[in-house]
Amino acid sequence: MTQTGRDRTNNAKLLAWVDEIVALCKPDKVHWVDGSQAENDALCELMVKGGTFIRLNPEKHPNSYLARSHPSDVARVEERTYICSKTKEEAGPTNNWMAPDEMRKVMKGVFDGCMRGRTMYVIPFSMGPLGSPIAKIGIEITDSPYVVVNMRIMTRMGQAVLDVLGADGFFIPCVHSVGAPLAPGQQDVPWPCAPDISNKYIVHYPETYEIWSYGSGYGGNALLGKKCLALRIASCMARDEGWLAEHMLILGLESPQGEKTYVAAAFPSACGKTNLAMIVPPNGFEGWKALTVGDDIAWIKPQPDGTLRAINPEAGFFGVAPGTSYDSNPMAMETLKPGNSIYTNVVLTDDGDVWWEGKGPAPAHGIDWKGNDWTPESGTPGAHPNARFTAPAAQCPTIDPKWEDPAGVPISAFIFGGRLSKNFPLVYEAFDWNYGVFMAATMGSEATAAAIGQAAIRRDPFAMLPFAGYNMADYWTHWLSMANKGVKLPTIFRTNWFRKDENGKFIWPGYGQNMRVLKWIVDRVNGKVGAVESPLGLMPRYEDITWAGLDFSKDKYQHIMDISREGAMSEAKEIKEYFATFGNRLPAALETERQKLEKRAEQAPAVWSIASAA
Ligand code: OXD
Ligand code: MN
Repeated sequence: MTQTGRDRTNNAKLLAWVDEIVALCKPDKVHWVDGSQAENDALCELMVKGGTFIRLNPEKHPNSYLARSHPSDVARVEERTYICSKTKEEAGPTNNWMAPDEMRKVMKGVFDGCMRGRTMYVIPFSMGPLGSPIAKIGIEITDSPYVVVNMRIMTRMGQAVLDVLGADGFFIPCVHSVGAPLAPGQQDVPWPCAPDISNKYIVHYPETYEIWSYGSGYGGNALLGKKCLALRIASCMARDEGWLAEHMLILGLESPQGEKTYVAAAFPSACGKTNLAMIVPPNGFEGWKALTVGDDIAWIKPQPDGTLRAINPEAGFFGVAPGTSYDSNPMAMETLKPGNSIYTNVVLTDDGDVWWEGKGPAPAHGIDWKGNDWTPESGTPGAHPNARFTAPAAQCPTIDPKWEDPAGVPISAFIFGGRLSKNFPLVYEAFDWNYGVFMAATMGSEATAAAIGQAAIRRDPFAMLPFAGYNMADYWTHWLSMANKGVKLPTIFRTNWFRKDENGKFIWPGYGQNMRVLKWIVDRVNGKVGAVESPLGLMPRYEDITWAGLDFSKDKYQHIMDISREGAMSEAKEIKEYFATFGNRLPAALETERQKLEKRAEQAPAVWSIASAA
């Protein structure tokens, strides 16, 4: 068996571990990834030859490729994602669990010989700027060249990481296989994977900080630095070490006077998180700048100077393509412009361009994500709804100058949002830290867009439901404990861009106009503006928001800020049932906050109006 690049490290632990995985997986070859352009080009060429990649028109998309996944391998597989802590209780009621010893046996079985006929790649990567005190090093072993070239965009990877790791540095071991060994002489397919869902495993061992992923080539299951390491395993490390690993964007907001305020925000999927991360200030905000630090994950650590500082552990964006356009997210479109990007499951146009639903006018003809001829009349989506682009963050025109600062950026506010058509106002601020943690722990989105009545809320605490690597209730306890770390705590806010009027129309225009809400948040944390007390929290009056450049009447504003007593009471009741699912691990402070909310709701008028408070 040939092995290239093994001499690039003298880390004995790493060498021994790779030898062990080679013996188990039995690849044909081993290649230690150096991260160079030449290596990347060769891997892309290999994938073009094998049919995994289609080179896009270099005039429109230099150095960019399209991949089409197996139709069964298009998203994360939550039902096959496991947290293998010693006890089921430690994984909690929101995670799948299997005893670690039992799972190790299963993994040994499926990984045995799984890389036959394939090359095994060893990818050294850093989550966070190389050498940053907040960063962590991982080593991903994979048999997928698609994973290697995506990891090159999404992380800092290659030789420089081995250099920082040194002879005895610590790394998080991550093993990945597409789960499709080749028999001698067997022809490979463009997207190998284990098509049977019950044969996919995304496994985390939180006590030993290990990741094993089998059977899927999809980004969220296979690029192990992202959800597996930077959220599930990192959330456990954060608990153990006293910091926060969060599913949050990081955004810097700079006033015309040059004052910079950083916020971190969490939203469940389909709430416009990537759009907010790259927001462009609207008319009326001349001189303001919004600068992106990260669009998906934040690692946040208390500092000796009393700040909480955040880094984006990633180096690229793995964004949902459908719905991304020059209207909804011009900065994402500009990020893609220079090329160097990978598209998965979008439409290929006849001139070698890419298209997806919501991008703009459809091409008369193209090839859809399944590889079939497609026209706008086909009656099926051309792109898969979870089609993705992988693009370097450095290409974002509004990337923050400090986005790679090893020290991170100071966070002044946490923002949590959901998709709620009724009852929840545009924005409100927590009275204090414990109530803010309660607001985040109980957030969620409507399960269905019901036309009549309030649809049940699918709770997605902190937008971490699929990503907390341990018991969710313990995770809340950990958040509450941040109050004892000697730092100035950021203020916590809830937002809801999705409230509808009686005709079922969104009241708030959304997108760039969200800047108006962000400015109030910035002014609040800088002590520049007031707020009034409502049953749900502290709220801006109409005159506290900057309206220049937007026609939004006081009447509409009152409507979007109204709180119904009945709505607030039923929310407090539903939360009681929800909290009960966590048994005695639920932190008492959260039940106290729930009771306080219930009391405030009881004492409120049938419809609490911002007009009466102003
Ligand atoms: C993502 C997700 O892909 O949250 O970022 O699912
Ligand atoms: Mn995400």
